[in-house]
Amino acid sequence: MLLLAAAMLAAPDYHSAIAPILERRCTGCHRKGEIGPMPLETYREVRPWARAIREAVLRKKMPPWFAVSGKFANDPSLTKEEIALIEQWADAKAPEGKPQPRPAAKPPQLPAADLILSTPAPIRIPAKSELEYQYIILQPGFREERWVTRADVRPTDRRAVHHLVVYVRPPGASWLATHAPNQFFTAKPEEGVTTADILAVYTPGSGPMSLPADMARRIAPGSDIVLQIHYNPYGRASQDQPQVHLWFAKTKPRYNVLTLQLNQPRLLIPPFAKDHAETVSGTLPGDALLLSFLPHLHLRGKSFEYRLVAPGGRIESLLKVEPYDFFWQLQYRLETPRPLKKGARLQAEAHWDNSASNPRNPDPSAEVTYCEPSRCEMMIGFFDVAVPADMDKETYFLRR
Ligand code: HEC
Repeated sequence: MLLLAAAMLAAPDYHSAIAPILERRCTGCHRKGEIGPMPLETYREVRPWARAIREAVLRKKMPPWFAVSGKFANDPSLTKEEIALIEQWADAKAPEGKPQPRPAAKPPQLPAADLILSTPAPIRIPAKSELEYQYIILQPGFREERWVTRADVRPTDRRAVHHLVVYVRPPGASWLATHAPNQFFTAKPEEGVTTADILAVYTPGSGPMSLPADMARRIAPGSDIVLQIHYNPYGRASQDQPQVHLWFAKTKPRYNVLTLQLNQPRLLIPPFAKDHAETVSGTLPGDALLLSFLPHLHLRGKSFEYRLVAPGGRIESLLKVEPYDFFWQLQYRLETPRPLKKGARLQAEAHWDNSASNPRNPDPSAEVTYCEPSRCEMMIGFFDVAVPADMDKETYFLRR
């Protein structure tokens, strides 16, 4: 009896209780070559961080996740029990315990990509001072349409990439048409806006774009692939040479997946405003299956909410992200895709803190407008929908 009680009271140890949690929820980022600042794969690596880990999970700082409403398939949050185990373990001075035979928790191995698009040479990233958005046009030379089921964007210096968007530019499009392919360039402000469809978005910790069965993203024959990259210097000069790995469907799927946006370009945030709000809304031109969200604001962002407004005016929150954190541009994938009818009204509301008490605010005295560099703001509510496979973005938006 006494022995049993002692065992029950014994603090959880690293090998039996903590390592499995870290492998499931942390080491994807906290390993060499990934974005976490320190590896957490062995007891020796983890031990010095025990208190910091306790703080990070108790305050829900780690793993990064900011949805306060909605149910999402990729929610990495720890359970109450897991948090309690980590707390008890750290409070008991982080005992090691005995190594346990455990299956190695390696991420599932993907089959080799059907196509790897490489940038021809690395781009230099300075130690300091923000780089303008970098663009590069790649020409895969597709003679037939392709249906992309999975895309994995692989920067070579993940720490330097704030976000990377992979666009599909259909043949004959005028967007960035004056720029030569296969070399990095910067665009003029008026060139940066496009309606080109998005194939994938890479942000720190986002993982590959991977679509459910029967869904894919169409690439029209003759399309170019355009990368748009926002680099964030981090104190050490480096370089990056991103690749995009693509997997294709063997047969035409039932659904084409489109990335749409609730975009508010007419922003005006007054100087020193502590809580400035903007809303924007739009109606869907046709039936669609709602799949996921990716809200985008800059350094003054406080919160972002997507809502569905029913015809009678009743409002349903689909996702609320709070606090909004510029360094975590996360995608939120619905646990169950949501069928929406033609005419469904979606609304986005964002809040900003332009006061001096926002430690990230680059200039509280500025009247802030819309532009790409981090000193300005943006408000884009990206969301993915699935539409019938014979529709592309253009035909989906034709009034029928
Ligand atoms: C999606 C990637 C990602 C995941 C998953 C992740 N981390 Fe992190 N972690 C980071 C990054 C990047 C930082 C540094 C920036 C920051 O603090 O936000 C960080 C910072 C930390 C810190 C603070 C280090 C310091 O300097 O004080 C701790 C502690 C930590 N993580 C523990 C964990 C634990 C424990 C888990 C799992 C429960 C986890 N992280 C999951 C990426 C991640």
